Amino acid sequence: MTRSTDAKEARLKAVRRGMRDIGAAAAIFGLSSNLRYLTGFTDEPGERLLCLIVGCADEPTFIVPELYAAEVRARTSGFVMRVWRDGETPEALLSGAAKGLSGVAGRILLDDTLWSTFALSIQRAFAGREFGLASEVMEGLRLRKDEQEVGVMQRAGEIADRAYEAVTSQKVAGLSEIELAGRLEAEMLAHGAEGVAFQTLVASGPNSAMPHHRAGARRIEAGDVVILDFGCRVAGYCSDVSRTVVCGDAPAEVERVYDAVRRSYVAARDASRVGTPAEAVDRAARDVLVKAGYGEQFVHRTGHGIGLDVHESPYLVEGSDERLEEGMTFSIEPGVYLPGRFGIRVEDVVVVTEEGERPMTHAPHELKRVA
Ligand code: CO
Repeated sequence: MTRSTDAKEARLKAVRRGMRDIGAAAAIFGLSSNLRYLTGFTDEPGERLLCLIVGCADEPTFIVPELYAAEVRARTSGFVMRVWRDGETPEALLSGAAKGLSGVAGRILLDDTLWSTFALSIQRAFAGREFGLASEVMEGLRLRKDEQEVGVMQRAGEIADRAYEAVTSQKVAGLSEIELAGRLEAEMLAHGAEGVAFQTLVASGPNSAMPHHRAGARRIEAGDVVILDFGCRVAGYCSDVSRTVVCGDAPAEVERVYDAVRRSYVAARDASRVGTPAEAVDRAARDVLVKAGYGEQFVHRTGHGIGLDVHESPYLVEGSDERLEEGMTFSIEPGVYLPGRFGIRVEDVVVVTEEGERPMTHAPHELKRVA
């Protein structure tokens, strides 16, 4: 048995233990990061139902559209597989599963991101049961990353670093935001990424004042502040990094805001210790920006957990008293946004260890001037 099969079995065992602890009879996973975590297989969800039913006692069962059958068989092991064909519906298989679980008391947990259309079919097949969310069990399992998970996240970080270096050492003035985003993505794929973690953000000039501006047709010109926010996937795990660069010379105010954001970032890093409540990290970052006069312009939380999903627990936000533990991975990304003018953000993902936090990306933090 391979090491990864062992790891998958341990994860399934942990899911069952978790279900028993909260009185659940089964959990049903769709095409999602949870499915990948448990089986190694996932894909983009589509209109055909593909799900894994993990009961407390019997063997976990895949319900699979025929066109996926060979791939699921090749990429997973240790699961029962029930196949349905185009021209049929999966309802009979769902009813069969419901009947199989009829003697087991407890709620049915549904994958949090399962499409409503599937959730409703499952609810019909399991009529009379109570339902809950799979995150009740899965969140706790995925919160702390093991050595293998941290290793692939580091690799995803290195690839992002290389892409940044390659793209910002070339001329960017005259490129559209979309073209620059395309270059970052191509570099990440060329360096071994299996895909992007999310649609690359390139926000130039006044667009940089919108924290989630994607990338548009605007051409980058001399004097622009440009926020690059990007990441890739390795073995399903994400990197996420932001750097703000300036095209040509930076006005004094850009330097001033940049310096405040950088100090805010350092304060959050320093606060990221085992045992610290998540909200204390947010407060550490926010205090610096409030003192610098930019508190009102820091319009989002300080960071988010990351792993198989780009955004997952823990969230570094006021009101979260969740304590940091070894193996937690999250972004630290304070930003200041001056509407209509420019924005600044600096972001790295870190992993918490007993010795302190360690970043996954290492691109320098000084304000970089690009041509
Ligand atoms: Co992020």
